[in-house]
Amino acid sequence: MIRRYDFGSPIPTGAVVRTLACENTPVPFFQVEAKEGQVSFSLTLDRDDMIFGLGENVRGINKRGHLFRAWNSDDFSHTENKAGIYASHNLLLFSGKDKLFGVYFDDPGAVTFDLGYTQQDSVRITSENGNLSVYIIEADSLTAICKEFRGLIGRSYLPPKWAFGYIQSRWGYSTDEEVREIVKGHRDRHIPLDGVCMDIDYMEDYKDFTWDKKKFPDLRGFNDDMRQEHIRLIPIIDAGVKQQDGYDTCEEGLEKGYFVKKADGKPFVGAVWPGRSYFPDFLREDVRQWFGDEYRKLLDQGVEGFWNDMNEPALFYSEESLADAFQVADELRHENLDIRSAFALKDAFANLSNNPEDYKRFYHQVEGKAVRHDKVHNLYGACMTQAAAEGFRRYDASKRFLMFSRASFIGAHRYGGVWQGDNNAWWAHLKMNLQMMPSLNMCGFLYTGADLGGFGCNTTEDLLLRWLQLGVFTPLMRNHAAQGTRDQEAFRFSNWADMRNIITVRYALLPYLYSEFMKAALQDDMLFRPLAFDYPDDDTARRVEDQVMLGADCMIAPVYEQNARGRHVYLPEDMLMVRFRSAEDYDLTPMEAGHYWIELDTTEMPLFIRRGHVIPLAKPAEYVEGIDESDLKLLGWVDKDVSITLYSDDGYTTSPCLEKGLTAITLQVQGEKATAQGHGLTLHADDVIIGD
Ligand code: GLC
Repeated sequence: MIRRYDFGSPIPTGAVVRTLACENTPVPFFQVEAKEGQVSFSLTLDRDDMIFGLGENVRGINKRGHLFRAWNSDDFSHTENKAGIYASHNLLLFSGKDKLFGVYFDDPGAVTFDLGYTQQDSVRITSENGNLSVYIIEADSLTAICKEFRGLIGRSYLPPKWAFGYIQSRWGYSTDEEVREIVKGHRDRHIPLDGVCMDIDYMEDYKDFTWDKKKFPDLRGFNDDMRQEHIRLIPIIDAGVKQQDGYDTCEEGLEKGYFVKKADGKPFVGAVWPGRSYFPDFLREDVRQWFGDEYRKLLDQGVEGFWNDMNEPALFYSEESLADAFQVADELRHENLDIRSAFALKDAFANLSNNPEDYKRFYHQVEGKAVRHDKVHNLYGACMTQAAAEGFRRYDASKRFLMFSRASFIGAHRYGGVWQGDNNAWWAHLKMNLQMMPSLNMCGFLYTGADLGGFGCNTTEDLLLRWLQLGVFTPLMRNHAAQGTRDQEAFRFSNWADMRNIITVRYALLPYLYSEFMKAALQDDMLFRPLAFDYPDDDTARRVEDQVMLGADCMIAPVYEQNARGRHVYLPEDMLMVRFRSAEDYDLTPMEAGHYWIELDTTEMPLFIRRGHVIPLAKPAEYVEGIDESDLKLLGWVDKDVSITLYSDDGYTTSPCLEKGLTAITLQVQGEKATAQGHGLTLHADDVIIGD
């Protein structure tokens, strides 16, 4: 059951697709206080209450104890003290002895979430706008609450099947020759690969929808060559449009008044990669249509996927803030800089980027009215993603395109996926990657993953290998690194063969992973779940922060510590451990419920299959189109006959039908032997373990 409560005059966000009448009774569970234009919602926590949600964020799966703030920020340092990163996903789920409900704060402005931070036993959530809709969601389990919520916000984005392949990326690939070398580096060593991201270096002077004709003289031909190799090129698009005479996107945007404006009606100018830039007013439908159609310039070259970036929006400086900083510098020029003035000078420049004051300098048009940006800040990236997705639909309605964005808001999950932003080559960020997966899934973002190996800082052989072992399971499996960091492609390292072997596991599991992804998307379920969702009565399982459920049948528990040769794992029920070294080299260990120390060499990764379940494994392949989905091995530990249904489709149709894509597989157990049948499938059941 979902109930809606309005406060002030809510600004439409597009997050919710079901229209619910507004209740006129007090909002349950919370004490509400309205003060100085803000509205706060408070409640008291019992000792054992847990709080899940907040999608893409720092800290663990259980968010209790910290202070968060919904404010999309271009902040590459995802340390524990941060209050948020690139996204605002204002869903919370409360679970405890007397509490079981979800709450969604549909507010496009800043919202603070004090979840037992100021005082351990109290929660206070404050909307700074004071204009919002609050949805209270009740059902009989955490999983059911999420499903209800997902029904409210609409079906998750469906990527094409090739987007489940391994993707290589780097800020710095500058020419088509360099990209060809990267592809060759993988293909020569049989490291599977399906895509290469093109970062800002492909553009001409960092201008959206252009490419440097010297570095990419024949983009169409280059794309065609790559397609022959089963590789997709995935260019980046940034939110800011370079200010430049003669640049068509800039000129058209200015002429038609499509950019956000200051109070005096002049277009706002802020800086990003190309220097001074304009920012499309993505909150307007006509602007979305225009910008969405601009992607055609690259779609016409055969491109089938993009990533949208810098759409919080990131601002290096505005004309005004830069002028202020120079003024401070001028005033201090002849001073003997002391404790006060030296810091004033430093701060004047250090605080230039993403300055809160700049977000108050420009306006959007929302339903014909000018709305100051900070009131709707968290919608900007989501509306850019929507613009792209709608543009793709107009371009070819029959085809799925890849789209993943950095900034997001709930609602954008219908239009694209997200990557988890500029992480670092830190072991702590490997763990954070795992913890974000279920939280993002709760909010509808199923197609997601982090920069494997770490974006900033230099990675190491063991970190990348261990991170790939998690990446095998994340729908977006992309190795991405920042300019200036050491080379990070798998083939650059002495242990490249181990990395290759791990990546082959992804391709062998792909029929299962794709099947579970699509079932989850089409039925509003989660692909990754905290153990608390599946084992609500098991107090140990509820508090596990470093293992998550994957699909209906599995649990994952990656190694995320430097030099570790194993890890502690808690099995809430009997499970079969598959210890993978590659798609074809693995061993099987049936394990009873309990606590274990599991030995895992750096080359080994575990997957746990619940007893009584079976999952399919394909033969290894070097690209998604090469996977033979008709010849499958079954893995599992069973006592009796089992039936499963596997979902598959052509991988690009825009209106997949769940029922039509399902194939039933039945596994029959007779004594010590299992045999399996499935229409049109060759199935091998030798790796199904029977009985004790
Ligand atoms: C931003 C993105 C990063 C990209 C870089 C250059 O930092 O988050 O992924 O590589 O910009 O475009």
